[in-house]
Amino acid sequence: MNDLSGLDLDPQNPPKGFNAVKVTEVKHYTDRLFSFKTERPASFRFRSGEFVMIGLRVDGKPLVRAYSIASPNWEDHLEFYSIKVPDGPLTSRLQNIKVGDHILMRSKPVGTLVFDALLPAKRLFLLSTGTGIAPFASIIRDPEVYEKFDEVFLLHTCREVAELQYGIDLVQSVHDHEFLGEMALNKLHHLPSATREPFANTGRITDWIKDGRFAEFAGGDLTPDTDRVMICGSMAMLQMLKSCCEDRGFVEGSNSEPGQFVIEKAFAE
Ligand code: A2P
Repeated sequence: MNDLSGLDLDPQNPPKGFNAVKVTEVKHYTDRLFSFKTERPASFRFRSGEFVMIGLRVDGKPLVRAYSIASPNWEDHLEFYSIKVPDGPLTSRLQNIKVGDHILMRSKPVGTLVFDALLPAKRLFLLSTGTGIAPFASIIRDPEVYEKFDEVFLLHTCREVAELQYGIDLVQSVHDHEFLGEMALNKLHHLPSATREPFANTGRITDWIKDGRFAEFAGGDLTPDTDRVMICGSMAMLQMLKSCCEDRGFVEGSNSEPGQFVIEKAFAE
């Protein structure tokens, strides 16, 4: 479906409760994945790891979904990373956005993948599949993560190798960054893994934990004594990793009561 409806949003006249934000960059990774950047309204504040409702006006009505903000909170633009669902009401249209178009954005970000929901610890594990890497793209570009934790491990599993590129470019950009590079040196570790194609690392995160490759990579198995975990992916992945944490004695945290792990669904249609 190559649906262009909704891409003619008048920025002067967004529906009530929404901002119209201008698209400044679009990058297609595969036929299933793309990222885009928008201008950031001056009054828009968020905590790294939060999500916001964004979308288009279709048939006169807002059509919005929850999207994690992938950019760090110090950037003056906003970045989003999206799946393209061929018949998805929103993404079949959103995938056609071009620089200069406008999208709708609610003004209030929310979410549980935030530092405030975790108690202090030594190691932080960011476990993601597919577009679930998006909130962690914000977190690993936030200097606070390197102040709060001695080591940060980003695990990202996708079906195909090409789907890992966003994360590979992201981690490279952190290491190359003038200030973040030094903070992340020897602290940020990245494990990209493919499940349906040959690659340097293969297999699901859950398999890595079970068969000991995770402990070898991280220098020790997961333990609530020293570790905190953030999880973002499909429902099935969340459930399995949640059990994995709970079996090891981790307690789930929230904004009102920080704990040892937090989860959030990678929102897709
Ligand atoms: P697999 O290829 O073995 O299904 P999806 O696109 O379906 O959301 O999957 C993204 C990645 O997440 C794939 O590599 C997939 O592996 C993996 N995955 C799917 N379900 C789970 C699960 N329950 N636990 C861990 N990883 C999962």
